[in-house]
Amino acid sequence: MPPRSSTKSALVCASILALAMAVQAVAYDASTRPPQRVVFPWMGLERTQENIPQDLATLQAHKDVIPWVSFERFNLGPNGTFVINELTQVGPTLIAEGFGTFPMISSFPDTNPNLEYTREVCANPDPFIADLVFNLLKFNYTGVNVDIEPAGGIGTYQDAVAYAGFLDKLSRALHQHGLTVTVDIASWTPVWNFTLLAETSVDLFVTMDTYTYNQTAWTHLFQKALDAFGPHRLGAGIMTVNADNNQPLSPADIKFRFDAIVAANVNVIGIWCMPIPDQFWPFIDAYMAGTAMPEL
Ligand SMILES: *[C@@H]1O[C@H](CO)[C@@H](O)[C@H](O)[C@H]1NC(C)=O
Ligand SMILES: *[C@@H]1O[C@H](CO)[C@@H](O)[C@H](O)[C@H]1NC(C)=O
Ligand SMILES: *[C@@H]1O[C@H](CO)[C@@H](O)[C@H](O)[C@H]1NC(C)=O
Ligand SMILES: *[C@@H]1O[C@H](CO)[C@@H](O)[C@H](O)[C@H]1NC(C)=O
Repeated sequence: MPPRSSTKSALVCASILALAMAVQAVAYDASTRPPQRVVFPWMGLERTQENIPQDLATLQAHKDVIPWVSFERFNLGPNGTFVINELTQVGPTLIAEGFGTFPMISSFPDTNPNLEYTREVCANPDPFIADLVFNLLKFNYTGVNVDIEPAGGIGTYQDAVAYAGFLDKLSRALHQHGLTVTVDIASWTPVWNFTLLAETSVDLFVTMDTYTYNQTAWTHLFQKALDAFGPHRLGAGIMTVNADNNQPLSPADIKFRFDAIVAANVNVIGIWCMPIPDQFWPFIDAYMAGTAMPEL
């Protein structure tokens, strides 16, 4: 469990402490769990030069198999500031059409000061969390997708402890309002320590390690996340393209990924980003229906 303020704990009687630890062991709040099987795309909006009206029309056409949509909306700014980005607001349209809505907290495009920003918000999380709760409730969002990505390779164990503590505090605050917390993670920075993250009350972790094209690496990294979070608290992130050369994933590439995800009983697939290419839809349809994957 990430360290928390010790001032109150001395006052807490043993039975309440035991209850709190039992709740902690359950790890996440049943009321904010994803429904059985979710496929959700991330919309990059202007940041990925998306054709937004066309992508909204695609989502509308496939809304029976896309329960959630995540989209660029907020940023982590300097000094722990909560930034509302000037991007097309897709939330109201998506909510009106019945999608679960997960605005992102992004660190894009500030890759350099990312770790600094992360350290700052971890040191002083309360104003940021208050702004987040206010904005999620104001716009009637389902929850949040935390996509704070500290620069690769740098960071210490202490940063990992602080970030897990920040996410735990954020999740507890959002759960009080029935809001669901999803967090994007991977293995390319020490700030994401899966052991520590698994001990938080975050509802769902979406691994971006499975963006990799290499099937050996994919299998290894998927299993790593599965071991840490278990199938019901894990989402597998997939890219629409081969990360090595930006070519579209073939049906065989897609089938390899969906077969492994189904075999592991993982209920959530995140797709970076819109538009979702046509060859994905038969696999998404089968995954959501719980039927056999299409033959190649
Ligand atoms: C961060 O906050 C400190 C103290 O309030 C201030 O001196 C500094 O200018 C701020 N930095 C930025 C980038 O806003
Ligand atoms: C949020 O939902 C409430 C209750 O349904 C509604 O009155 C309000 O207008 C909604 N807010 C927005 C920003 O859509
Ligand atoms: C992650 O955290 C666990 C639990 O504190 C620790 O045992 C492990 O060494 C950490 N991993 C890394 C790479 O720091
Ligand atoms: C694929 O990943 C494995 C395991 O990480 C690695 O040993 C191998 O060299 C990689 N293959 C290619 C073609 O990059």
